[in-house]
Amino acid sequence: MINQYYRTIVFIIFTSMIATGQNEEKIEKKIDSILSQLTLKEKVAMCHAQSKFSTPGVPRLGIPELWMSDGPHGVRAEINWDDWGYANWTNDSITAFPALTCLASTFNPNLAKAYGVSVGEEARYRKKDVLLGPGVNIYRTPLNGRNFEYMGEDPYLASKLVVPYIQGVQKNGVAACVKHYVLNNQEKWRDHINVEVSDRALHEIYLPAFKASVQEAKVWSIMSAYNKFRDQYCSHNELLINKILKTDWGFDGAVITDWGAAHDTYEAAMYGLDIEMGTGTDGLGVTTANHYDYYFLASPFLKLLKSGNVEEAVVNDKVRRILRLMYRTSMNPNRSFGRMNNKEHHDVARKVATEGIVLLKNENQCFPIADTADITIAVIGENATRSLTKGGGSSELKPKFEISPLEGLKKRFKNAKIIHAMGYASGPSAYDKVLPSEWDADSLKKEAINVAKEANLVLFFGGLNKSHLQDCEGDDRRAFELPFGQGALLQDIAAVNNNIGMILLTGNAVDMPWIDQVNGLIQGWYLGTMGGAALADVISGDVNPSGKLPFSFPAKLKDNAAHYFGELSYPGDGVNQYYKEDILVGYRWHDTKKIPPLFAFGEGLSYTSFDLSNFKIDKKSYSNGEQITVSGEVSNTGEVSGAEVIQVYIGKQKSKVKRALKELKGFKKVVVENGMTASVNIVVDVNSLAFYDADIADWNLEKGKYVMHIGNASNRISQTIKFEIK
Ligand code: BGC
Repeated sequence: MINQYYRTIVFIIFTSMIATGQNEEKIEKKIDSILSQLTLKEKVAMCHAQSKFSTPGVPRLGIPELWMSDGPHGVRAEINWDDWGYANWTNDSITAFPALTCLASTFNPNLAKAYGVSVGEEARYRKKDVLLGPGVNIYRTPLNGRNFEYMGEDPYLASKLVVPYIQGVQKNGVAACVKHYVLNNQEKWRDHINVEVSDRALHEIYLPAFKASVQEAKVWSIMSAYNKFRDQYCSHNELLINKILKTDWGFDGAVITDWGAAHDTYEAAMYGLDIEMGTGTDGLGVTTANHYDYYFLASPFLKLLKSGNVEEAVVNDKVRRILRLMYRTSMNPNRSFGRMNNKEHHDVARKVATEGIVLLKNENQCFPIADTADITIAVIGENATRSLTKGGGSSELKPKFEISPLEGLKKRFKNAKIIHAMGYASGPSAYDKVLPSEWDADSLKKEAINVAKEANLVLFFGGLNKSHLQDCEGDDRRAFELPFGQGALLQDIAAVNNNIGMILLTGNAVDMPWIDQVNGLIQGWYLGTMGGAALADVISGDVNPSGKLPFSFPAKLKDNAAHYFGELSYPGDGVNQYYKEDILVGYRWHDTKKIPPLFAFGEGLSYTSFDLSNFKIDKKSYSNGEQITVSGEVSNTGEVSGAEVIQVYIGKQKSKVKRALKELKGFKKVVVENGMTASVNIVVDVNSLAFYDADIADWNLEKGKYVMHIGNASNRISQTIKFEIK
């Protein structure tokens, strides 16, 4: 019976593989035929924008336009044809999903899939063919204004989450466009800075999530970064695009520039760029009839082709990739219609948010808070009511609704008394300037102190926001500390009420000189539509927190590896920058150099406690191509059920090259009822232990002794196991 079942499954998989293969073959033939009918001019037209977010089709042959939208946390509101203004439609309000840092903190690939499916459905409903996201640039410095859009500092974690996200989006016949390829790890000088980094760090740290997007998720498009790498712009970088992406990884989709990231016609033609977007940020230039004709891949490209200096095969390859992208999206007759703002999407958004919220400190059982009539909670801080889906740059969203923390708490806490004061105020969100606040800081402070005096407990909702120089595209934060006078305000509040629970809404680590003055600390990210409800879920204990930090929080800025090496390392000298920390990014640096962070990668508390025990591996030694099966038990020794993330790190003793003490190679999130024990199995690919050997330009699996570290945070290792690679 079982045999028959498996035979049937194998048959179905095999025949569907053949069918997919046949289908692909058929499409390639159709593309051949289209290519033979297109004029040179029509081909070139397909390689560049016709508006802010679309490229033209070929009406003569029934080829439709290609429509794109940002990404990655929801589908951006409709933008005008030729300028950055919003079109002010009344039917483009969407579900805002939590920021990708929050998704990364869930350590839950199933949720990444659900997130991808849902945001893809919304993109489809909005008639988009390409969703500009997700972003997987590695978290290198806490000052990067765009970290909130990415998946943290670890290439393995980012890879494990980006793959299901992409698969989910693309299930809808909407292409994901993974961005920004690559080394766009800061916003400051992003449009021109030249990044110098070793081959090892490039391949081991910065490329893996892109590689997984291409090879495992089969992403259909990729967005090139603004910056340069080794003196060549990433949008037409021979090594990054032609060699690594298209040749070594076999990427068969289209490379799309970031908006305005192309700089040269010959290079764009020859070094792999397929679609040019956004050049000349005002769309139609004032001096020309149709600015789009002056794009590098427009008239100048046509001229180059006609002159014979660039062969027609070059444009044919680009158009083939664009048509492939279209057959998968705009020309796919079988895609669903999608849906938007439905309950399922809100549920996914809330689930991602609750699982991604990270509890970092919980003294005197600050959290969860009981909803009893004898307590008064003072909710203080601008972020308790401010919209955090507004601003931030291109990831800005127009949600149908957004539950603020104050609303969420008021809805959940029916017995406790909730009082509120804004406490501090920043100005309105703006993309490229800091706007002053209209509020009087002293009166706000006075009011907050009075409110704090009346309460048993203060919940301070602070952090950053989506304004220029905060968590916002276009530039970096100028300071590591909390802005808008929050530090001083906290001191004053602590003087009248020493029971403070701090909730940080940020996409970045911040300086915490005040950490000893708060009993509780929650890292609450940017949570979107359901944010306030999700925070109330965790604060009330309806949901037991299980999020883990996807990046390290250094105790001081200098403790972060990029900053340790001074200005040439970050932000560079305005022309070049050198990633001097090399492969030692994030916890790899803190661990190896024995510089403990304030909060470590993988760290996150729960309302219960877990014991990890009896972890073992299936053999003593392994060889190339094998898998290591790690198994053990997790016991929930506390009072409530919860989920724990078991993390497997591996390090090489006595290596011939520099190594991090340990690197994440496997993880699993397990739900365990209180009083129960669950078994866990985690599989690690032996080949993932190889280092990138620049001498042979390939991966090198060193033989010898390795150490596995198993724990529930990079700084909480409960067991180590030695093994060998032969
Ligand atoms: C951003 C991209 C975004 C594009 C279109 C650029 O400024 O870097 O991430 O997709 O604009 O809005």
